[in-house]
Amino acid sequence: MEVVIVPDSAAGGELIAEAMAGLLRQKPDALLGVATGSTPLPVYEALAAKVRAGEADTSRARVCQLDEYVGLPAGHPESYRSVVLREVVEPLGLSEDAFLGPDGTAEDVAAACLAYDRALTEAGGVDLQLLGIGTDGHIGFNEPCSSLASRTRIKTLTEQTRVDNARFFDGDIGQVPHHVITQGIGTILEARHVVLLATGEAKADAVALAVEGPLSALVPASALQLHPHATVVVDEAAASSL
Ligand code: GLP
Repeated sequence: MEVVIVPDSAAGGELIAEAMAGLLRQKPDALLGVATGSTPLPVYEALAAKVRAGEADTSRARVCQLDEYVGLPAGHPESYRSVVLREVVEPLGLSEDAFLGPDGTAEDVAAACLAYDRALTEAGGVDLQLLGIGTDGHIGFNEPCSSLASRTRIKTLTEQTRVDNARFFDGDIGQVPHHVITQGIGTILEARHVVLLATGEAKADAVALAVEGPLSALVPASALQLHPHATVVVDEAAASSL
């Protein structure tokens, strides 16, 4: 695992956007796994700036979702499908055909999970998976105690994660779904390159446990220690407990 400490989130965004641009130069139709939340926004902004400047070509790039809420109506602005369309697909000028995601509106959620896990494999696998980290050490929506070998499946959110994510739902925890679909930890570990970005002091303890702590299902992000090509990009605040 490589740990890169950058001065701030903009520098982290630039570094990862450059890695994505470099990958796309080698493999124009690379499949980029994208994360939601506030942390990765500087990555998408920096990559879109590179596209505008002619320094990155996303015309054949493909993107896929990491996770999704279950039960939000189709088109809900906070469904992760809507978020990825708004924050990644549209600014990068991708077509919706280049976008893979699980169906959080499916009646048979278990079948939707299986179908998404298969779709990722059939698409040739994820070339670069971008991750954030929850304050409790979760990746995707793999909450503490998730099996390190888990596949895409339905999970129940912890109270802490629902509190953390209420800011996207007018601060009203009652609107935050209880259930989600997430790529499993085993699924995430199949990506050829996994890049975790963490910024801000609130992530410092989770980062230290993930990077320096024992491999443990209690800290899902510690599973990246098993990956042959994992890069952890942290700003100085998120690195403060290392
Ligand atoms: C959610 C997402 C994660 C993300 C986490 C942290 O739980 N499912 O993929 O990493 O939030 O979000 P933020 O970057 O906003 O702190």
